[in-house]
Amino acid sequence: MTTRTLNGTPRGRLGVLTPGMGAIATTFIAGVLAIRQGLGKPIGALSQMGTLSMDPIAEVTEHIAKVVPLARMEDLVFGGWDIFPDDMYAAAVNAGVLAPATLEAIKTDLQAIRPMPAVFDQQYVPRLAGTHVKTGPSKMDLAEQVCADIQQFKAANGLDRLVMIWCASTEVYAKPGPVHQSLARFEEGLQSSDPTIAPSMIYAYAAIREGVPFANGAPNLTEDIPALQELAREMRVPLCGKDFKTGQTMLKTVLAPALRARMLGVSGWFSTNILGNRDGQVLDDPRALKTKEISKLGALEHILDTDRFPDLYGDLFHSVNINFYPPRGDNKEGWDNIDIFGWLGYPMQIKIDFLCRDSILAAPLILDVALFMDLAARCGWNGLQDWLAFYFKSPTLSAGMLPEHDLFRQLAHLESRLREAALETAAISDQPDWAQAN
Ligand SMILES: NC(=O)c1ccc[n+]([C@@H]2O[C@H](COP(=O)([O-])OP(=O)(O)OC[C@H]3O[C@@H](n4cnc5c(N)ncnc54)[C@H](O)[C@@H]3O)[C@@H](O)[C@H]2O)c1
Repeated sequence: MTTRTLNGTPRGRLGVLTPGMGAIATTFIAGVLAIRQGLGKPIGALSQMGTLSMDPIAEVTEHIAKVVPLARMEDLVFGGWDIFPDDMYAAAVNAGVLAPATLEAIKTDLQAIRPMPAVFDQQYVPRLAGTHVKTGPSKMDLAEQVCADIQQFKAANGLDRLVMIWCASTEVYAKPGPVHQSLARFEEGLQSSDPTIAPSMIYAYAAIREGVPFANGAPNLTEDIPALQELAREMRVPLCGKDFKTGQTMLKTVLAPALRARMLGVSGWFSTNILGNRDGQVLDDPRALKTKEISKLGALEHILDTDRFPDLYGDLFHSVNINFYPPRGDNKEGWDNIDIFGWLGYPMQIKIDFLCRDSILAAPLILDVALFMDLAARCGWNGLQDWLAFYFKSPTLSAGMLPEHDLFRQLAHLESRLREAALETAAISDQPDWAQAN
């Protein structure tokens, strides 16, 4: 990665485009609008609430928002695509996450945000039937329609820069195939409408071609494929993913490192969830569920390093289940039963019952990822953004990078990148005006 000179506080407005304008996207957008009106605080967003140690010896700690040149919440403009035509007020009411009084206070602004027709293929999300969708003679034509949407949105809103964050439904499980291996083959596949090119890949392709950073909040294959990574390097665009690490996996990646640090054994980790939102309905299909379960399974084995510690973790039984249970709506309940053992192998148990709110946990992560991806683009950090692994259950990493799932190690990596951006900006600010202009 190369570092381009950062020019202090970003000027102009930043467009945040989300394919998918359901529960997490509306909670994020309505949340930012509510915060702008002083109706709440950006709790859970590191970019807004977090601090950064700038000099550990002198114990100098600063607010991230003060020292890292991030776009301001006031400068964000929202848009996106959905397979349903509901405006953001109707979609937020339907998602049932935020209180009616909050939504009422920002109703006009929310109603002004209407989704563009989506690129959709029911083969990839069998439980949904879209009505607000694009048609075209080929997948390349659909990609070009998304490119045109991006250009039009940028011009109509007088935007300086854009980022795209996939907030749409989880697609069915897929492995990389021949058409995904290179950009040339992928583009041929778009022309011939290859069935293994998913809608999420079409959005990502269009974003990267337009120079727009792309992040994947769901567990789909998307940015994992070599073709899109090649395009991102060629276009010098940042990429990251996948699957926001919000509830159960977030806790798993805190607790597992503690057990390993103490050299306590783990014989079993049984995780189960009930949720009743549209995401839960989509995951009720076994092919979509497999995508999510695989994404949730990886972290534990890596953290416990089962091969290196066979006496402690060699017999680990890890199971993750997700159950659709409509009465709970977005208020997911996640249980973990952890069978551990200590001195002389004596068994013990840990039980976790996390009564969380899925979209309330996801919304601040969308904000952080949007602002940090914009920062990456302005710094000239292109390709996969390994330092953003903190936000994902199943981070897509650059070739040669070992997976790191421990939340605090991921945070340390993220902070070192932010410090780099902060120090570079500070160095530029110390220069005379004529030097900054160059
Ligand atoms: N909430 C969390 O904590 C969390 C954590 C990690 C990942 N996720 C993922 O985020 C995604 C969104 O979650 P949600 O709760 O908002 O779900 P949701 O069902 O409320 O919203 C998804 C939206 O995407 C739309 N959609 C589906 N396919 C589309 C396409 N091809 N183009 C445009 N729109 C499309 C749907 O119509 C729906 O409105 C899911 O994939 C979910 O697995 C959520």
